[in-house]
Amino acid sequence: MGRLWGLMMHVLLLCLFEVESSNAQSTVGSPRALDAVLQDYAYRAFNRARTGVSYDGTVPPNLTGIKVSAMRLRSGSLRSRGVPAYKEFEIPTGVTGTPYVERLVLVYQNLGNWSAVYYPLPGYAYLSPVLGLLAYDAFNLSATNLPELDIRTTANPIVINFTDVKSPPLGSVAKCVSFDINGSINFSNLISSNVCSTTEQGHFSIVVESIAPSPSPISPPPTPGGGGPTPGKAGHGKSNTKVWIIVGSVVGGLALILLLSLLALWAQKFKQRKNMQQMEKAAEAGETLHMTSVGDTKAPAATVTRTQPILESEYVP
Ligand SMILES: *[C@@H]1O[C@H](CO)[C@@H](O)[C@H](O)[C@H]1NC(C)=O
Ligand SMILES: *[C@@H]1O[C@H](CO)[C@@H](O)[C@H](O)[C@H]1NC(C)=O
Ligand SMILES: *[C@@H]1O[C@H](CO)[C@@H](O)[C@H](O)[C@H]1NC(C)=O
Ligand SMILES: *[C@@H]1O[C@H](CO)[C@@H](O)[C@H](O)[C@H]1NC(C)=O
Ligand SMILES: *[C@@H]1O[C@H](CO)[C@@H](O)[C@H](O)[C@H]1NC(C)=O
Ligand SMILES: *[C@@H]1O[C@H](CO)[C@@H](O)[C@H](O)[C@H]1NC(C)=O
Repeated sequence: MGRLWGLMMHVLLLCLFEVESSNAQSTVGSPRALDAVLQDYAYRAFNRARTGVSYDGTVPPNLTGIKVSAMRLRSGSLRSRGVPAYKEFEIPTGVTGTPYVERLVLVYQNLGNWSAVYYPLPGYAYLSPVLGLLAYDAFNLSATNLPELDIRTTANPIVINFTDVKSPPLGSVAKCVSFDINGSINFSNLISSNVCSTTEQGHFSIVVESIAPSPSPISPPPTPGGGGPTPGKAGHGKSNTKVWIIVGSVVGGLALILLLSLLALWAQKFKQRKNMQQMEKAAEAGETLHMTSVGDTKAPAATVTRTQPILESEYVP
């Protein structure tokens, strides 16, 4: 009985630990929440916001490994001249943004070793970091949580000349992948070994189908300095369901323990009753079958009898 309890508690604790550790792993916010954080940190790079100049930003310590830059442009200039070289991006002429703003900011992101963390792609391996290009209104350079402007090409596509590309394993074909700001994923062919193209803003990389079964997304190591999850509705929903899982497993575990102990108790009772019955049976059998010889006749004899049977001939009145 004690052993059973111990085992049950052990199982219950293991379950709880499992839930806890999976909780600790999911401390990465959504890609959209990251976009918002990076817009903020890219805008902070503007000390003198000269147009057409790229300013490199610094990211918070909990995002070390990610690079951001920002470039401010007049919408008219973007459309008529494009940007021949903004990091890996070549922006052609004819790019327009909606809604129309007088000046816009192009935020560049290089997610580095965080690429697969924020953009997990089961069944594929990244050959280059995920790069982002997003457009925002330049009206207020202290503003945060800005919505993206919708920028689109009218004639030629935007060319992405990846500089940091691993060569694909022999026999496999590399592909361009793009994620638009609504999260939809598109695959397309490379223009050349390290060049992709796009007609709109978003996140881009070069991938190859992985032969190994899809690896689970790598979780980042615990970040120092209170690197909690980026606040977001999705994150809250997740932690809520986690709480329900914990509550559910505790209640379920306790119910199971109760059930098992009742079962054990009943089994013990049953065994006792069986023993009692056997003892009674044995006693009865002894009384009825235990025969004693009295003279040359057999007579049943109880073990304890008040009057011993005697022969009549011996009877002396
Ligand atoms: C710019 O945005 C900041 C932060 O949201 C706000 O405090 C400030 O008033 C805004 N400035 C203008 C000119 O709108
Ligand atoms: C990409 O960049 C490399 C060097 O950085 C250059 O030689 C090549 O011409 C570029 N390709 C395109 C399509 O821009
Ligand atoms: C994203 O979704 C919004 C609302 O559904 C839509 O207006 C917008 O065009 C979409 N953007 C892209 C790039 O698909
Ligand atoms: C993705 O590809 C489909 C078909 O190839 C195309 O209709 C769609 O516009 C593409 N979406 C993006 C965001 O490029
Ligand atoms: C990326 O590398 C930096 C150090 O360069 C490290 O601090 C960070 O934790 C790494 N991120 C991930 C997701 O591994
Ligand atoms: C990183 O830290 C900043 C503040 O230092 C916070 O605003 C942001 O949400 C954090 N991001 C992540 C992914 O933890």
